[in-house]
Parts: sequence; structure tokens; C-alpha cells
Amino acid sequence: MPESLPLAMVGCGGMGHRHLYGLAELHRTGRSPFALVGACDPNLDNANSLASQAVDLLGKRPAVAKDLGGLPAEVAAADVCTLPAFHHTAAIEALKRGWHVMCEKPMGLTLRACQAMIAASRRAGRVMSVAENYRRDPINRLARALIDAGALGQPRLLIHNTLGGEKQMLISVWRHQKNSSGILLDVGVHFADIMEYFLGPALTAYAQTRLHEPVRHNPVAGQDPAQKRSPAGVYERWQKEMPAQFEATAEDAAYATILFASGAVAQYIEDHAAFGQGLWQRTLYGSQGSMNLPGDRSGQRLQLTQAGREAIDDQRLFELVPDFCLDPTTASLFGGERLYEYQLPFAEIDRKLIAVEYAEFGEAILHNQAPEVGAEMGARAVALSYALLESQVAGRAVRVDEVLEDRLNSYQAGINASLGL
Ligand SMILES: NC(=O)c1ccc[n+]([C@@H]2O[C@H](COP(=O)([O-])OP(=O)(O)OC[C@H]3O[C@@H](n4cnc5c(N)ncnc54)[C@H](O)[C@@H]3O)[C@@H](O)[C@H]2O)c1
Repeated sequence: MPESLPLAMVGCGGMGHRHLYGLAELHRTGRSPFALVGACDPNLDNANSLASQAVDLLGKRPAVAKDLGGLPAEVAAADVCTLPAFHHTAAIEALKRGWHVMCEKPMGLTLRACQAMIAASRRAGRVMSVAENYRRDPINRLARALIDAGALGQPRLLIHNTLGGEKQMLISVWRHQKNSSGILLDVGVHFADIMEYFLGPALTAYAQTRLHEPVRHNPVAGQDPAQKRSPAGVYERWQKEMPAQFEATAEDAAYATILFASGAVAQYIEDHAAFGQGLWQRTLYGSQGSMNLPGDRSGQRLQLTQAGREAIDDQRLFELVPDFCLDPTTASLFGGERLYEYQLPFAEIDRKLIAVEYAEFGEAILHNQAPEVGAEMGARAVALSYALLESQVAGRAVRVDEVLEDRLNSYQAGINASLGL
């Protein structure tokens, strides 16, 4: 495919670099419609680092700029990977310039920011895609097909439990700061999107939320950044400069019950301050069976147990979804149209899923199509995440739509004030 869409990376930190690796992965398949022409970050070291790596990966150095105004005039699309507090400012400015936008999750830092982005994308008439990568995992695609085919019967209950973390920093200091995107939004928004992907729109949520560990520790402070332990091994060079210990202001645990419009219920625990035994569980129960799902981006098998039958986790799953087929880009990147498992290092999985996001963003632009996760859906995931935090403040079950429409926003008031919204 000719690379005809001039693209700028906006935000060149960890995820900006991971997006570059995803773009290069798509480029290698010959399916990329994008030409990277700009790298924008107020931290010019980060923009220059990305531009230099682009020379090796894409064969051309993009122009470096500290703001959108400094990018080449030819730019037609922006990939927003800034800190969440700047998603709405970067995306809205890009849309006003007539550019198409792909924005990392969480779409906006608050629902007010998300609503401003929705309005801007409608006014601009440009594509606004939210980069929700977990749902694009081939195993989650298979799970969704099995749910749609009625392999479980009518979905009734989702048990989603993720516990661990102790008092360690998760990737960066900002992920523990309420005004920058606390951990329940940063990680929780992925799970909110997946829950709606599997079960449809959420209606209400009741939650207890906690800040268990107000002091967090960074084990990489002052260490050799050559030891790669962070996602895709890109963060150590920044982590070594971060403090060894710092104050966390954002809640780190949520214990919730969520009701979906279908009548299904989720029992949801997201605890990033748990000690002792870590836990991952995503199990969906329906009127005719249950399904255990592996961690996102693990490539491990899901396991389906239909009433009165033995559990299956292999090619027999495809007998239940005879028409199931991954989209051509995912199939070509992961090596098959129908996969029940895959074995790849995390960095490779990560960049393949980002490549899929880019391919879909390009198709939406070139064929004037709605992206799979547009602004409205991206905002819904943010609303479901904040519904848990708003529920704790309100002391009651809250409706997701009152949060989505920014009618219930006491928890977010201070964040909106910090953003000037
Ligand atoms: N989908 C995923 O799996 C995933 C994983 C990690 C991060 N993310 C998301 O990606 C985004 C970035 O996270 P990260 O890990 O790269 O953070 P990071 O701190 O590593 O990088 C953020 C970058 O944004 C830059 N920046 C700040 N303000 C800017 C502005 N106004 N214009 C341009 N750049 C600006 C910073 O200088 C920095 O280089 C976040 O929204 C995060 O939630 C998604």
C-alpha cells in the first residue's frame, strides 16, 4: 500500500516509542498507509529519540517539533500519546487543524474533557479513534465471537479480579496522581472497555474505592537502565530519574458491582495495592456454560466449559464459531486467521496490536468509515471507570450515563479545576 497519509506522533514518551514500533511492524507487512513526518513533544529529547529510532525503523527521520504549530504543513493525521492531561488539548487542536486523530486511552482525563473532544470531532468531521488495544487481542476476538454465537448461553455474571502491586510504582509517578490519571483510570479504563466489549453497555455501578498505599516506591531509581523490566522495555531510562519514594494521591483499589443493560452483572475487583498472593481472574458465566479468559496480551488459551461437557481450549472451539475469522491485518501479523493461542514475547505482541490499531485508523480515514472505538465509545470507558470513583463519593450506586454526561462529577471536580475546565 502506498504510504500516502502524513502522520505526526504527538507525545514521544514510553507509549510514543511503542507506537513507533507498532507503526514499523505495520510498515513491514506492506499494509501501512502512513508516512511518519513529524515527532512532537515539549520534551525535545524524547521527540529526538523517537525521530532517531524512526530512521532505523522506517528509513526516514520525521521533523521534530515542541508543539503542533511546529509540525510540517503536510500533516493529515495525529497520533496522540501525550500524558492524559493533554489528550484533549492535543486532540482538539489537531482536529481544528483538520487532522484525523488517534488518541491513546484514557480518551480524556475527565468526562468534561471527553465531551469537549466528542464535540470537536463532530465539528471537524474527521476520524477520532481511541487506541483501545486489549479488545484487539486475537484471544479476546475469539471470546467475543463465542459469546455472540451463544456458546455460553445468555451471559449472566462476569467475575473480574485483578490483585497485586503492593506498594511499588506502576511504570511512572504520574500514574499515582489523581490530577494526572490515577491507576484506577489508567489501568481500569482498559478493563471498562473490555467489559462493554463482551457484555454491552453498563448501566450502573456501586463501588468502594481506597487509597491503600499513599507512599509508593520506585525500585529502578538510580539503577542501571539496561535492565529491562518495564512494558516493552522502554521506560527504564525515565524511571531511573524518578524519585525512589513519592506520595500517591490517587486511589489504588476498587471493589465494585456493575450492572449491564442486558441484565448481566460484573463483580469487579481492581486492587493495585494487594500483598501476598497475586490474582488474575476473568470468568464469564452464562445460562449454558462458563468461559475463563487469560490475561490480555498473554497469548494463552481461553477455556470454555459448556454444561455437561468437558472443558475445551483448542481447535474444537472453532466448531462453535464456524465463520469466525480475524481481520486480514491481525491474521497476517499473528500468523493465522483462526487462533486459540499464540506464543510471542510481550514486546512483539504489544507492537502487533498497535499495528492493528494503526491499520484500522488508516482504513477509517481512507474509506470514510467509523473506527471501531470512536469518541463516544472511548468516553463510555472513561465514564465507567469514573463511575466507581464517583460512587464512593456519592455513597450510592450511580448511573453510568450521569457520569458520561458530566452531571455527576464531584470526584472529578478538582481534576477539572486543575485542567481549567
Ligand atoms: N494502551 C496501552 O497499553 C498503554 C500503555 C502505556 C501507556 N498508555 C497511554 O499512553 C499515554 C502516554 O503514556 P506513556 O506511558 O507514554 O507516558 P510517558 O510519561 O512515558 O510519556 C508521555 C509523553 O508525553 C509528553 N507530553 C506531555 N505533554 C505534552 C504535550 N502537550 N504535547 C505533546 N507531548 C506531551 C511528555 O513529555 C512525555 O514524553 C497515556 O495516556 C497512557 O495511558 C497506553
